[in-house]
Amino acid sequence: MSDDLFRRTRAMFDLPKGVVYLDGNSLGAMPTSARERVRRELDESWGRQLIRAWNSAGWIDLPARVGDRIGALIGAPKGSVIAGDSTSINLFKALTAALELAAPRRVIFSDSGNFPTDLYVAEGVCRLLGRGHELKIVDPEAVESALDESVAVLMLTEVDYRTGRRHDMRLLTEKAKACGAVMIWDLAHSAGAFPVDLVGCGADFAVGCGYKYLNGGPGAPAFIYVRPDLQPRVAPALSGWMGHAAPFAFELSYRPAPAIERLRAGTPPVLSMAALDAALDVFEGVDMFALRKRSIALSEDFIRRIEAECPELQLASPRDPAERGSQVSFRFAEGYGAMQALIARGVIGDFRAPDVMRFGFAPLYVGFAEVETAARMLVGVVRGRLWDRPEYRARNKVT
Ligand SMILES: Cc1ncc(COP(=O)(O)O)c(C=O)c1O
Repeated sequence: MSDDLFRRTRAMFDLPKGVVYLDGNSLGAMPTSARERVRRELDESWGRQLIRAWNSAGWIDLPARVGDRIGALIGAPKGSVIAGDSTSINLFKALTAALELAAPRRVIFSDSGNFPTDLYVAEGVCRLLGRGHELKIVDPEAVESALDESVAVLMLTEVDYRTGRRHDMRLLTEKAKACGAVMIWDLAHSAGAFPVDLVGCGADFAVGCGYKYLNGGPGAPAFIYVRPDLQPRVAPALSGWMGHAAPFAFELSYRPAPAIERLRAGTPPVLSMAALDAALDVFEGVDMFALRKRSIALSEDFIRRIEAECPELQLASPRDPAERGSQVSFRFAEGYGAMQALIARGVIGDFRAPDVMRFGFAPLYVGFAEVETAARMLVGVVRGRLWDRPEYRARNKVT
């Protein structure tokens, strides 16, 4: 049953022959529906309808439509998610709104496993507000015990981009609420990777990427969630015309749209948004619990094979699959060269400095045969010391 499901989803992707793609945690593979949709938007909508397509092709409603479709994957009700901008920008929107809700508290609390952009955006927000806000960072393991009533906003990424370590979202959200803090989750490595229950957890805000497990394509629009009952109290800092109550009334002063639409800022990138919309078709009929089960089985199989044959590599991800997202990371001092050698042999993962080799398992298009091939190739690269070849040592800009 589940084999049939994933055979069906695999057939919806256009992957090059001979490639094992284990980097869906960074850039998801391309669904054929995305290509067909972008072609259609170019040829029929832009090409023929021209500006009329904002209405006739529904461009104007794409951010809400795509937001609702993502919402269905992350436990968010209709009207609580809007797609657009990047994760960094959406985090700025969430953080500025959350700090206003949490005033007079001034502490943004996060952890050292967070993705740098989240921490950098928080630094920028503190500077911009100029009212003594500060960013406090602790180790991921210390978040729960270090939270206290001075915290304005707890801002965490559920799954650590380096190690795949997964926070307990429900527990930490409850703890944040008990301290009177506003909770923001970055779901970049969660949305489309496993079931998420934003409403069940009581999260206040969430953001995430469209180009990872959602397969929306390079630079795909991101998304932002705001708890429905908070929406009327959110005063957007990026108060752009598309978030106005009546964008085409062109009033001189900003009046926010009544609900999640106020988190829109400017004109959406329609072609990218259409690609993401079409990519989400792949998730139709997919049980996210079955997907999670499969992702764990694939990851466990990979870990078992590598640990049995490659003692040079140390598992950097938690051993307990319940504490991992959908990626497996290994530490290896020669990881950069080893990953380049592996990629040259058609097995694509990636590398994060100083020594982390990352492998993402997206069951929509990765199966057990691919895991076997990837493990065999990696063992060959390490045993044959192929990482030592000069062509694999030269660093690319993107690792
Ligand atoms: C947790 C997390 N947040 C944010 C981002 C990136 O944000 P943006 O799409 O704005 O570049 C990434 C990228 O990998 C990420 O892992």
